[in-house]
Amino acid sequence: MRRWLVCSAWPYINYVPHLGTMIGSVLSADVFARYLRLRGDEVVFVSGSDEHGTPIEVEAIKRGMSPRELTDEMHQKVKKIFDEWGISFDNYTRTESPVHKEFVQNFYRKVYENGYIFSKEIEMLYCPKCQRFLPDRFVEGVCPYCNYENARGDQCENCGRLLDPIELESPRCAICGSTPEIKKTTHWFFDLSKFEEELKKYVESNKQLPENARNFSLNLLNEGLKPRSLTRDNEWGISAPFPGAEKKTIYVWMEAVLGYISATIEWAKNVGKPDKWKKYWFDPQTKSVYFIAKDNIPFHVLILPALLMASEEKYILPWNVASTEFLLFCGKPFSKSRRWGVWADEALEKFPVDYWRYYLISIRPETKDSSFTWDDFQARINNELVDILGNFVHRTLVFIYKQFDGKVPERHELDELDKELIASIQRTPDTVAELLEKFKFKDALSEAMNLARKGNKYLNDKAPWHKMKSEKEIAETTLNLCCQLTRCLAILMEPFIPFSSEKIWEMLNLDGSVHDKENWTTAKELLIPSGHLIKKPSPLFKKISINEKWT
Ligand code: MF3
Ligand code: ZN
Repeated sequence: MRRWLVCSAWPYINYVPHLGTMIGSVLSADVFARYLRLRGDEVVFVSGSDEHGTPIEVEAIKRGMSPRELTDEMHQKVKKIFDEWGISFDNYTRTESPVHKEFVQNFYRKVYENGYIFSKEIEMLYCPKCQRFLPDRFVEGVCPYCNYENARGDQCENCGRLLDPIELESPRCAICGSTPEIKKTTHWFFDLSKFEEELKKYVESNKQLPENARNFSLNLLNEGLKPRSLTRDNEWGISAPFPGAEKKTIYVWMEAVLGYISATIEWAKNVGKPDKWKKYWFDPQTKSVYFIAKDNIPFHVLILPALLMASEEKYILPWNVASTEFLLFCGKPFSKSRRWGVWADEALEKFPVDYWRYYLISIRPETKDSSFTWDDFQARINNELVDILGNFVHRTLVFIYKQFDGKVPERHELDELDKELIASIQRTPDTVAELLEKFKFKDALSEAMNLARKGNKYLNDKAPWHKMKSEKEIAETTLNLCCQLTRCLAILMEPFIPFSSEKIWEMLNLDGSVHDKENWTTAKELLIPSGHLIKKPSPLFKKISINEKWT
């Protein structure tokens, strides 16, 4: 049996995630985890709230609350939103969890003992007005690589480079806007450069890595890796466990990436098998997949593997880092400050969750940036979800309900069209599975929709409504096959639109649930017996129209 660790990037919870965060990480990971479970594979799917670091501190200062008050509130809120989106986490935890904090400190003690951490006096930006050092997002300025005006101290949003605040040109304090001074302070560093060779081998030999992850990482490797700073003067965070570093905390990225491990440990405790996490982290048979957007590439393809190497504990390295490009909102990046975009909570106030899941997966930015637009959203929902899938399922079920008293009719002699349809039912689950395993989710979804399209065409070609009197056997065979196809579609659609799939399953009046393990393996079979009673059908989806005010 295959075993998988499915990971999605931990969202900063200074704010509710927007649609770009959803498709870049949690929703994509959920599609994959659901598919694997349907295959009967062993799966643990983890993530959590990224609570530390300057993005949270900056927001807490703005809202006049403590960082912990902010993250307590937001963690509950975001957890509930993910639940409503149907994200099937095995553990959605937080970086303030005691398990995480303890794990991180022990991990770094080990890396320190192994000799990969050193301290050094450095020059740092300091805001005289706020009386604080300005690491990471406490400082903004011009990117020295691409001249982007609003680069942050830790990373340039425009070119994706990791930065050191001191490299920024024309720096300014993100809180008060003052020009910072330079001040000396001691910090601890992780010697990333020691892993250059090993990382190069890892990246080059990892055949799964998408192009963007491979190219970006090889580029950085060819330029040469520098030690990465590991500590901060901020109080908010996890205390650094190094002698002399008592007042410092660990840089948020360097601990959050370890959350994948601590969340698995916590999961194992929660299910009452405290050692079980080890199978997911030490057994080379386990495959781990990380779902992230491209700005997270260096942390997952270089820093996380380097840390795992530095622990000298033989953790498995990421098998794949399924990194997407960016989702734009009507052509421009989502922006909280400019109120540009749609957020995960308000989305659900407007339309049912499966409409969003369907649309986001169908525009998943797999090889290039893609753009959400309201017109396209409306068109895809109305022309695809409603007209193709919803329509096929509804026509089939209503026909059986009205013309056959809700009983699935028998199959008789098969003609060419019937045989072709059966062949499609037998073939499509494998095609969709193959695409999903190549992380081509968009194509996988459209392949599944094509099957529904074929169903509609088949139904039209056979026109059973004309055959009820004189050629009833033909009508019976047709509806029997449409019903089998409906079951197949419910299963194939489950990873994408799980709520609607379950509704189809219920109307079909089948045992258990569409989510049951191993359903995928029977998707290609014609398992519904004739005489089986279905329930009164109701439409799956409704046509939508977009409110002019939103556009
Ligand atoms: N919070 C980060 C972001 O939103 C992602 C952290 S992923 C993890 O960009 F690996 F650190 F967990
Ligand atoms: Zn830049």
